[in-house]
Amino acid sequence: MPYPDTITLTNPLDMHLHLRDGEMLHNIAKGSAKSFSGAIIMPNLVPPVSTKEDVTAYKARILEAIGDERFTPYMTLFFKPGYDRTFLESVKEEITAIKLYPAGITTNSEGGVSGFDVEELRPALEAMGELGIPLCVHGETNGFVMDREAEFVPIYEKLAAAFPKLKIIMEHITTKESVAALDRFENLYATITVHHLIITLDDVAGGMLRPHLFCKPIAKRPEDREALLKVALGAHPKVMFGSDSAPHPRHAKESCGCAAGVFTAPIALQLLTQLFEHHGAPLENLQKFISNTAQNIYGITPPKKRVILERKPFTVPQEYNGVVPMYAEENIDYTIKEIING
Ligand code: DOR
Ligand code: ZN
Repeated sequence: MPYPDTITLTNPLDMHLHLRDGEMLHNIAKGSAKSFSGAIIMPNLVPPVSTKEDVTAYKARILEAIGDERFTPYMTLFFKPGYDRTFLESVKEEITAIKLYPAGITTNSEGGVSGFDVEELRPALEAMGELGIPLCVHGETNGFVMDREAEFVPIYEKLAAAFPKLKIIMEHITTKESVAALDRFENLYATITVHHLIITLDDVAGGMLRPHLFCKPIAKRPEDREALLKVALGAHPKVMFGSDSAPHPRHAKESCGCAAGVFTAPIALQLLTQLFEHHGAPLENLQKFISNTAQNIYGITPPKKRVILERKPFTVPQEYNGVVPMYAEENIDYTIKEIING
């Protein structure tokens, strides 16, 4: 059944967002802040956001960059195995989650975790579980690129079993193996991007190489995309939208040595609406995927905002302040008609 010509999405949330810093932050933050009520902000700056001072100062820079938009930046710290209970208690009010990167796996993750020894991680992860601080994880090994996420699933399971009180969010999942793991452990949750619901590796590298679709984890096989679609369109209660929108300047993408990251923030809601309609998914499932489920999992109440979309072709701009978005210069079916705060 086609959707009505005008659709209202309430309090949209982006549960995985890269806002960067400095000039890039100023160039792109307003885009997300306009159409979303809030977002989980990734900490992979250079150097990473890893102290209380880092996180409060970064939040202040974000608030300054978004001006008077009603938008909550839900802050994260970059996980270090040395975080202890005293530190975590002192920083708890400033953060919504902590993000764990395996060392060197993606952009600015050199200071991340190696080895995943449960006893080494126990003091930090046990305290996080007790204090109710969720752990967001970039789940990839350093194996063969197509297998990295599936190879990480046993690590997710080991952590989920060892720390049953800890909420573990499998970030930007791309494989059927991660989808299957969701239902095996009560404390495993997931985010899914819009691009991984649309593209496979064929779109990235099957014809001419498309640098603006290159990201980590790399897009996978059609059967993986099917598994992701099933839980996203079906509003699985442990699956949230997280764009992983990751802007890089055009020259860093269109170069020999292309940076990983797809920039989707300005078109994410329009694309998701198009996708859910195309697959005949109920509109209420879209609302759950883009907000309600995340509110339940994280226990957050975002500022009130209604985004009104209209079925009207929209030509995606060639760039937004020097950053090339997914579908640049192509038409999509929906456009944002109005945003009502409150
Ligand atoms: O493609 C990606 N880009 N994946 C990540 O995990 C990081 C991100 C970035 O920060 O550019
Ligand atoms: Zn990311």
